[in-house]
Amino acid sequence: MWDTNDYSLRRHNTFGLDVRCMRFAEYGSVEELRGLLAELRECPVRRLLHIGGGSNLLFRADFDGLVLHSGILDFDIVRTDGDAVYVRAGAGERWDDFVAWTVAMDLYGAENLSLIPGEVGASAVQNIGAYGAEAKDIIDSVEAIDVATGEVVHIPVAECGYGYRTSRFKTKDAGRYIILSVTYRLAQRFTPNLTYGGLRREVEARGIDPVDLTAADVRRIVIEVRRQKLPDPEVKGNAGSFFVNPIVSRDRFVDIWQHHPEMPSYDAGQEVKIPAGWLVEQCGWRGRRLGPAGVYDRQALVLVNEGGATGADIVALSRAIQTDVCRQFGVWLQPEVMFV
Ligand code: EPU
Repeated sequence: MWDTNDYSLRRHNTFGLDVRCMRFAEYGSVEELRGLLAELRECPVRRLLHIGGGSNLLFRADFDGLVLHSGILDFDIVRTDGDAVYVRAGAGERWDDFVAWTVAMDLYGAENLSLIPGEVGASAVQNIGAYGAEAKDIIDSVEAIDVATGEVVHIPVAECGYGYRTSRFKTKDAGRYIILSVTYRLAQRFTPNLTYGGLRREVEARGIDPVDLTAADVRRIVIEVRRQKLPDPEVKGNAGSFFVNPIVSRDRFVDIWQHHPEMPSYDAGQEVKIPAGWLVEQCGWRGRRLGPAGVYDRQALVLVNEGGATGADIVALSRAIQTDVCRQFGVWLQPEVMFV
């Protein structure tokens, strides 16, 4: 375990903001974490924040408390059941290292989620998703520690409260648990998931017959598409999609659609999901800047640090966008990124 005071979080948030925390601690095992939590019960801190890869965080200012980070690593095959292989991954593993490992091991189900930034633990909090797949589709269970009692619990996927980019770990049980590891259910037989139109078109454009497609092909194509559309945080600070795609009533959808029949949309049960990137672009924000914060020119859903931005600069830009979208479409965009 390492533990330090007045620590810069620059390497721990993909916006690249130079904020500091009072104390930072990284643990490498459950025992170390238990020790830390016991210490905290003796000597509480004002604020506690557990972070993953910092790819979904926006620090508005320095953090006046303790930031915890998991260094619990390892991938283990825990059991096999027919075609299914159950793999346990440590919460501190980089998500994309996990995906690369599954593809190399000929275990399938994670390949559409290639190159998503962040770590295994956060993927289960956020229910990350892309190209027609979501983490919850392959999660079997989550192993976590209850911060108040130190008890280790195994939560089956059906009890994780998963929805679009959400779970009980970010809603009713926010702060209650720290995720130690996630067990995934992967398949030994590869069945391509080409339900997302954009991915299917990319496969066709490369002249690959879907019957010849391999998981390594899917991974390669997803990586290519993401690199084209999304800025590399090492080059330009960003946190991927800044807003979630809003889900609106059919009435609201029809209102907008009457003026914009070209608007893309997806069914969401009784309601309709509209791409936030499209709304932001319609308001003229794609490629625009407000001070040192900007909107990425190839994907309007991504806000970027153009260099030297503070959290306040990015919040100011996001408020300006929310106000414009609300004025023009009557929809208030909700951030996907968590504000600290
Ligand atoms: N669009 C625009 N202008 C833009 C961006 C998008 O008109 O600037 C339109 C596109 O033409 C398309 C539609 O919006 O018709 C959807 O765009 P895209 O396929 O790029 O996906 P998205 O809805 O913008 C979501 C996820 C991404 C994920 C992609 C691919 C959310 C909030 N975002 O984006 O996730 O990679 O689908 O599956 O659901 C992330 O969460 O950080 C992330 C990048």
